[in-house]
Amino acid sequence: MDTRNVYEIHRREGITKTTCLDPYFNGPQRQRSNPLPIINDPILSGRSASSSPPTRSYKATERPWRNVLPVPEFKPVQERPAQSEVPAKSKKPRRKPKTKNKPDATSSAVAYAVGPHAVSVSRPQRFPLWVRAAGHELSTDIRYDQFVTTAESIYSSLLPYQVRSVREFFGEALPARPGLHIIDATAHIGCDTSNFAWMYPGAAITAIEVDPVVAEALKQNMARLHNILSKRVSPPVCVVNTDCLAYLGALTSPADLVYFDPPWGSGWKKDSASFTLELGGRPLGEIAGETLAHDVLLVVVKAPENVIVDDLVAAVRRGCPSATYVARDILKPKNGLAYRLIAFHR
Ligand SMILES: C[S@@+](CC[C@H](N)C(=O)[O-])C[C@H]1O[C@@H](n2cnc3c(N)ncnc32)[C@H](O)[C@@H]1O
Repeated sequence: MDTRNVYEIHRREGITKTTCLDPYFNGPQRQRSNPLPIINDPILSGRSASSSPPTRSYKATERPWRNVLPVPEFKPVQERPAQSEVPAKSKKPRRKPKTKNKPDATSSAVAYAVGPHAVSVSRPQRFPLWVRAAGHELSTDIRYDQFVTTAESIYSSLLPYQVRSVREFFGEALPARPGLHIIDATAHIGCDTSNFAWMYPGAAITAIEVDPVVAEALKQNMARLHNILSKRVSPPVCVVNTDCLAYLGALTSPADLVYFDPPWGSGWKKDSASFTLELGGRPLGEIAGETLAHDVLLVVVKAPENVIVDDLVAAVRRGCPSATYVARDILKPKNGLAYRLIAFHR
C-alpha cells in the first residue's frame, strides 16, 4: 500500500486515533470503557438513559417475538419555513402537481426526533411486511420489524431468505472463536452487521458507513441490537461515520474479517456481460488486495452475477499475490442468483 496516499487521506479526512472514536481502531484489546455516545440512544425512550434494558431469557424453542420492547413510533416534525420566509399575504397554497409513481425525495424529507439531535432522514421506514414476515417464518433470529430503514435499503440489505446460506458461507470461511475483530466496511443500515453480531458473539465489530444520514439509521439500529437479535451483544457494535478507505488505510492493528458490500451503482445493468465493482472511484479488487496485505486475515466481497470472478481475483492478487479465494452463490428463493460472496484469504 502506498503509505503516502494513506497519510494524505488521513490529513484530508482528519482520521486519527483520537478523532475516529472507534475503540477497536487499534484492535479490540484497546477498548475504551465508554466508546461512543450513540449507545445511549433515546430511541429506547420510555426508559431513562441510565436504566439498563430488561434482561430476557428464552428457551431454544420459544419465539420471543412478543417479549421485546415495542418499536418506538417515529415522531415526524415537518420542517416549517422560518417566519421571515412566510409571505405577508398568505394566499391559498397552490397545489403541487401529483407525481404518480415517484415521491419527491426532498419534499418527503422530514426531521425525525430520534437522537440527541433531530436528524433528517429521507423517507425513513420499516421493511415491507413480506420481509418482516419472512424473517419471522424462516427463524433467522433477526427481527426485521425492528430495523429503521431507508427507502433504498430493501434492495441492498441481507434479506431473510439469504440468511441461512450466508451464515453457512461465513461459518466455513471464518469459524467463530474468541477475540475476533470484524469490520463491516460498507454497513448501510446494518443488516449484515447484525448477522455478524449473531454469528460471532463477543467479537469486536466495527460498522462503517460514509453517508451521514444512513449512518444515523445505522447508529439507531446498532444501539438497539438487543431488540433486533433478541439478545444482548457484548461488546456493542461500534459505528463509525466515515469513508472506509480512509479508515482502513489508517488501521494499524490486525483484523480478522473485512466485509465489502459496495453499492453496485447506476452503472450496473442486470443484463450486461461484465461489471467492475468500485468503491470511492477505485476498483474494489485492488482495495481488497491492499486490505488483505494490510494484516487482515479474510476479506469478503459481495458481488453481482456479472462481476467476472477471475478479473476480481487478478485485481486482488495485484495487492496480495498469495491470495486464495472461495466463492458461493447466494440464490433467490425460487431460482436465479441474488449475488455472489467471494472470500479472499491471505
Ligand atoms: C449495498 S449497501 C450495504 C448494505 C449492507 N450490507 C446491509 O446489510 O444493509 C452499501 C453501503 O455502502 C456505503 N458506502 C459507499 N461508499 C462507502 C465508503 N467509501 N465507505 C463507507 N461506506 C460506503 C453506501 O452509503 C451504502 O450505504
